[in-house]
Amino acid sequence: MTIIAVVAEQADETRVAITPEVVKKFKALGCDVRIEAGAGQKSLISDAEYQQAGATVTATAEAALEGADILLAVQRPQADRLGKLKAGAVVAAIFNPYDDKAALEAVAATGVTAFAMEFMPRISRAQSMDVLSSQSNLAGYKAVIDAAAHFTRAMPMMMTAAGTVPPAKVFVMGVGVAGLQAIATAKRLGAVVSATDVRAATKEQVESLGGKFIMVEADPDESGETAGGYAKEMSEDYKRRQAALVAEHIKSQDIVITTALIPGRPAPRLITEEMVKSMKPGAIIVDLAAERGGNVAGTQPGKIIKLGPVTIMGKIQLARELPVNASNLYARNLYAFVAQMIDKETGNLVIDYEDETISGTLLAKDGQIVHPRLTGEKQEAERC
Ligand code: NAI
Repeated sequence: MTIIAVVAEQADETRVAITPEVVKKFKALGCDVRIEAGAGQKSLISDAEYQQAGATVTATAEAALEGADILLAVQRPQADRLGKLKAGAVVAAIFNPYDDKAALEAVAATGVTAFAMEFMPRISRAQSMDVLSSQSNLAGYKAVIDAAAHFTRAMPMMMTAAGTVPPAKVFVMGVGVAGLQAIATAKRLGAVVSATDVRAATKEQVESLGGKFIMVEADPDESGETAGGYAKEMSEDYKRRQAALVAEHIKSQDIVITTALIPGRPAPRLITEEMVKSMKPGAIIVDLAAERGGNVAGTQPGKIIKLGPVTIMGKIQLARELPVNASNLYARNLYAFVAQMIDKETGNLVIDYEDETISGTLLAKDGQIVHPRLTGEKQEAERC
């Protein structure tokens, strides 16, 4: 029988890696689920709900971890806790593998078989396992809601007896999962929405949501997209032309949501200080790339700052501010991934290392970091 453990996350994390719904699903596969008391508290899940779903709630983290085959977590777990797990146990989490090499090496050294959920290949079969999508989608929504809450004007056009209130102009930079949800949310609130991306394929997506697409034409031999569906670092000439276009467009915008990321690299700088200063008084920028260096000059991760008359919100980990939804979706992502490792006949852990979702996310095994993106064998940007 496979034992699955979940322990309380670090203090700043509001999400939890398992929900009662997912406990029931793992129980149906013949697994035993142990959860540290209080682990679901910040996602409004009580110990009693976990127990009713069939989990064992333990008083301490150690009791949950002792001899477990699988640890499910949101953030990278602390290495000193992993010794309690069965030798070679599976750990699935968002590892942020580029952020803290020493912490990652410490995890690998414990001998666990670690899977970094953020490395999930972008293939159709893996959509249900894609934690970046499920969390970015919520972040895109929350970015617009936060911007609207800070905005000193209304979002929709209102025609009243006292006159017309104009609609807000919202500009979304980077049209991945977060950007698309930001466009959809801003449209629902009644804003006039425009958006840009380096990937030409996003034009149709923006337009289908009722947004106006604005883009610099790349040279025919310079595609903005890798084979993996991610953005690439663009040429200096492209960046210059993009900056000129943005500089002109941004002057008339009320709210700008930036989400541009390039895997494994610092976020591209898209908005300079000069551009910020050219914006209208009361304009708001929400920089969802803040944690990776920011798309905007002056962004401070986790802080709201003023640059002249413009507010820059350096939002980080926005999905954490919607923990109930974020935990629900994250737990389902983990279930879709981990359930395929449980043998349906015996309920035992059987890992098929040939499977693309397994090999694509395998971060560490047998004491070593093994993922090619970290051992330097492969860069996402080169996968084209
Ligand atoms: P991301 O978070 O890596 O980047 C956000 C956006 O920023 C991307 O659209 C990117 O093209 C854009 N960007 C990068 N540099 C830029 C620049 N200099 N100027 C303007 N925009 C820039 O992307 P995310 O959200 O992870 O999505 C990447 C792709 O993967 C999308 O096509 C998405 O639909 C696809 N996807 C596929 C899945 C699957 O098939 N399983 C699951 C999730 C996403």
